[in-house]
Amino acid sequence: MASPAVGIDGIELWTGKLKLDLATTFAPAHDIDPNKFTKGLGLHASSLPDVYEDIVTMGANAALRLMQRHGLTPEDIGRIDVATETAFDNAKPVATYIAGCLAQVMEGDFAHANLGERKFACIAGTQALDDAANWIHSGRHRGRKALVIATDTALYERGDPGEATQGAGAVAMLVSESPSVTAFGLPQGIGSADETDFLKPHRQFPSVDGKRSMQVYLGRIQDALADFAAAGGSTDPDAHAQFLFHTPFPGMVKKAAVLGYLDGVQGTARGDALAEDLGTLAHPDTFADGRAYLDVLKAHAKHLKQTDHYANWYARAVTPTLKVARQVGNWYTGSVHVARASGLLHAAHSERALTGQPLIVASYGSGAQAEVHAETVQAGWRDEAEALTIQQQLDARYDLSYDEYEAIHAVHTYGAESNLSPRTAPSGEFVVDGRGPMGEYTYAYVA
Ligand code: CAA
Repeated sequence: MASPAVGIDGIELWTGKLKLDLATTFAPAHDIDPNKFTKGLGLHASSLPDVYEDIVTMGANAALRLMQRHGLTPEDIGRIDVATETAFDNAKPVATYIAGCLAQVMEGDFAHANLGERKFACIAGTQALDDAANWIHSGRHRGRKALVIATDTALYERGDPGEATQGAGAVAMLVSESPSVTAFGLPQGIGSADETDFLKPHRQFPSVDGKRSMQVYLGRIQDALADFAAAGGSTDPDAHAQFLFHTPFPGMVKKAAVLGYLDGVQGTARGDALAEDLGTLAHPDTFADGRAYLDVLKAHAKHLKQTDHYANWYARAVTPTLKVARQVGNWYTGSVHVARASGLLHAAHSERALTGQPLIVASYGSGAQAEVHAETVQAGWRDEAEALTIQQQLDARYDLSYDEYEAIHAVHTYGAESNLSPRTAPSGEFVVDGRGPMGEYTYAYVA
């Protein structure tokens, strides 16, 4: 007997409650043409946390809403895996803080749930989904679901080129048998290498070589695509409803999409014709200089954009996945999962039929590793997409002035002491409410 499908049964997003508008607030303060952000990076705004928000509150708020919406009690959850690259404790995992928050307001507790934390830069959220699926396939779940939470406060040092790509938010996902949103396919492609493109050795803010990080991202994606094909997977652009990529900023996805598309048409008459016109695109790692590779890739992208097949594919399969990212920035571990939610939300609003159709999911984590797998959309996807309140949350964000942005960035810098008052009023959510006897953060629910 075939084993039941395993995959995503529910999704909830929680955005940081402050907004930094890149065109009207950030660009003038830096004397930079706003088009660099809105057109070049493809970003309009960043979500940032208010003074009472952090990775625990955002993760717990997303999880609480998801569990309540699905009518679940703590005993229905057999594990909580938190993916983050902005944890503040090297021993006690964020999952314990989140379970503690949830237990404050829910009947029951998580005493028999396996709690843990996954770290591999932005790919950790996808790895946590994989862990959860494997736990279910192993049979140890005893009918329970896994709660996977990707939560980050993605801040860069003031003045860093990455500052315009900041973001903060959490994605909570339920993983179960017979899922209602998407089912994971079996073939999996991996591309890993020991790289130092973006890292935080004992520091809060990343040490990042921007252009090289893009080259490493694309190199690992290319390797993972090749491995996915070797495992029997296909990325045929005509056979997949959507392609989701890790989205540090939508301009990065514009580049990754070229690799996804060329991989999908490889070996077809269309692919052969493109290779004849353009030559074969060399592997990113064969370029000593990341900028030189990005220039070659750009020439390919320019040519492809002029073909109807590519332009239509990109508009149908990629653009919908970027709609939320444009308004929130980089959510690190949550970013590729924001892309899934964004694509489903857009399909629901545009009355698209997705049930039974496959998606390609291409994740990336600096350091570095990419993973590619397919998911098949399940019959309950529309109900789940329609239950998402992300647009209402985004519209309700407090729009920061530049002075307020500077102050809020300082509040979230480790070691800083601040009395800054919140810009928003918490309601029906978890908040940071102080420090405990060992210096740990403490949390409360504000009704
Ligand atoms: N009008 C229109 N477009 C403009 C413009 C204008 N006035 N000015 C610039 N642009 C375009 C540029 O041409 C460029 O587009 P292309 O790449 O298509 O040429 C884009 O805007 C960005 O401009 P720059 O390349 O000059 O920007 P930058 O060097 O200041 O910063 C960055 C870009 C290096 C990626 C920086 O944002 C950064 O360091 N980000 C953090 C690292 C990162 O996100 N890396 C991505 C891969 S690693 C990863 O994915 C992991 C992760 O989550 C961090």
